[in-house]
Amino acid sequence: MSSSPVERTLVLIKPDAVRRGLVGEILSRFERKGLTIETMVKREMDAELADAHYAEHVEKPFYPPLKEFMTGGPLVALIISGDTAIDVVRTLVGATDARKAAAGTIRGDLANSNRENLVHASDSPDSAKREIALWFPGA
Ligand code: TYD
Ligand code: MG
Repeated sequence: MSSSPVERTLVLIKPDAVRRGLVGEILSRFERKGLTIETMVKREMDAELADAHYAEHVEKPFYPPLKEFMTGGPLVALIISGDTAIDVVRTLVGATDARKAAAGTIRGDLANSNRENLVHASDSPDSAKREIALWFPGA
């Protein structure tokens, strides 16, 4: 019998989505799938939080423009929960390069950039734990 672990994952609705008025559309996709929005806040990512959140990427050539983009306006941070929520959310979000993301995914339907791709979602149980602690200490 396969197990059905309820998981929590960290999602960021990025500044491009806020700027484009897509917050409701994106939240609706998660809700319609049957996931639960546990916690949600609109805030900005400062340089220090960007470096911590993207620790695995800080040395990469794409990081400076990514940091400028992510710190350039308000975003919406959420904890989402549900049955195998980490993988389910990644599937709904789609491939990193939105130009190649499958139709039917958030990135595939609504974005066309390898940087401004609307959503961040934790990619593993370890990432989810680390990122939830970073964005929502004590949650
Ligand atoms: P990554 O963790 O590889 O993707 P994902 O968000 O799907 O987990 O990269 C983090 C973000 O960095 C990604 O959402 C967009 C940006 N990025 C670039 O700007 N250029 C790139 O070549 C890559 C791989 C990512
Ligand atoms: Mg990632």
